[in-house]
This record gives sequence, structure tokens and C-alpha cells, in this order.
Amino acid sequence: MQLMEIIKARHSIRKYTEEQIAREELEKILEAGTFAPNAGGGQRSMMVAVYNKELTTRLGTMNMAKFDRSHLAGSYVSKEQPSTIDDPTIKNGFYGAPTVVAIFGQTNFMFRVADAFCCAENMILQATELGVASCIISRGEETFASPEGRALLREWGVPENYSCVCFVILGKIDGAQPHTKPRREGRVKIVE
Ligand SMILES: Cc1cc2nc3c(=O)[nH]c(=O)nc-3n(C[C@H](O)[C@H](O)[C@H](O)COP(=O)(O)O)c2cc1C
Repeated sequence: MQLMEIIKARHSIRKYTEEQIAREELEKILEAGTFAPNAGGGQRSMMVAVYNKELTTRLGTMNMAKFDRSHLAGSYVSKEQPSTIDDPTIKNGFYGAPTVVAIFGQTNFMFRVADAFCCAENMILQATELGVASCIISRGEETFASPEGRALLREWGVPENYSCVCFVILGKIDGAQPHTKPRREGRVKIVE
């Protein structure tokens, strides 16, 4: 696929089969993350890939533990791939995806969030090229805020001065690819 085809073929997928992705696919997706642009050329972001469905399910529940939907009334994200905003019965913030990459940034670094999402974008585009379904998920810090979360970070060897910014969830799509929403008009200008 050409790059623009990959960009247009990528969708946030929230319905996954039980099938795990191949280890080689995961490694290639992680490699794409390491080649993301990064502020100051410091390559500070870290990625921890959880390649274990039982653990991604546990983490997905932790991701939703403090989810506040009070300010979300009336909005919807996707009818074809409903999100936790759209469907309050979804209790796993990772939607049953069998692989989850947690992306960490240096807590006091001002570009930690930008760096992390650059990694995430590289990874989901590489995933799309491989036919792996993906979605970016937020609430990184909240997911690990509990004693259980902090224990996992210690177990994984995440340095004390790092905190989670976001996640990329990965798996095989269950059902059909969603349609592309029309692009909102008036978002682009070329000034000469
Ligand atoms: C910063 C950011 C945070 C996001 N957080 C979530 C999330 O927590 N849960 C979720 O289901 N989707 C999340 N998404 C995915 C968006 O909902 C999705 O990109 C958007 O609806 C557009 O759909 P598309 O990705 O299929 O084009 C996030 C995307 C971005 C860029």
C-alpha cells in the first residue's frame, strides 16, 4: 500500500477477535514507534508491550476504573465501532484487544505527551500496513494510579521518573472495516 492509502485505511477499531497478532508483527510495530520524531532528538519515550490477553484485559479494566462520563452527555464517537463514551456497558477500556502497548514519557519533560503520540501514530500506521487493527487509548496515568498499577510498573522495570501517557491497542478486527467519516470542511488553508 502507498502511504496515503495506509493513512486513509486506518480506523480506530474497538471490536476484536480472540486471535493474537504475530510476534513479528508486534516487533515491527514497536520498531516503527522507535523511529517517531521526538523533541530535541532525545528519544525519551519508552514502550512496554503487553502481549498477553489475560493481562491486557486486567489493564483494560484498570483503564476504566476512574472514567468520568459526566461531561460527555450527547456526544458520540462512532456508531460502527462504539467507544466507552458511546456504550456505558463496555467495562474494558482496551475492548478485548489481545496486545496493548503502553507508552511512557519522562514525567517532567514538557514534550512527553507530544513525543508519546508521535510514537503512537507511527505504530498505528505500521499496524495498518500489516493488516493489524489498532486504536489509541488515553488515561495513561490514571490506569497505573492504583497500588496494583504501581506494582506492575515496578515489575516491568519502568523508571521512577517515567509515567504512562497513552496506549496503542492491537489485534484482529472482528467484523467489517468501518466506513470513513467525511472530513470536516474548512480545516485546511494554503497561504502563498
Ligand atoms: C489523543 C487521542 C486519545 C484517544 N483516546 C481514546 C480512548 O481513550 N478510547 C477510544 O476508544 N478511542 C480513543 N481515541 C481514538 C479516537 O476516538 C479516534 O481517533 C477518533 O474517533 C477518529 O476515528 P478514527 O481513528 O477511526 O479515524 C483517541 C485518539 C486520540 C488521538
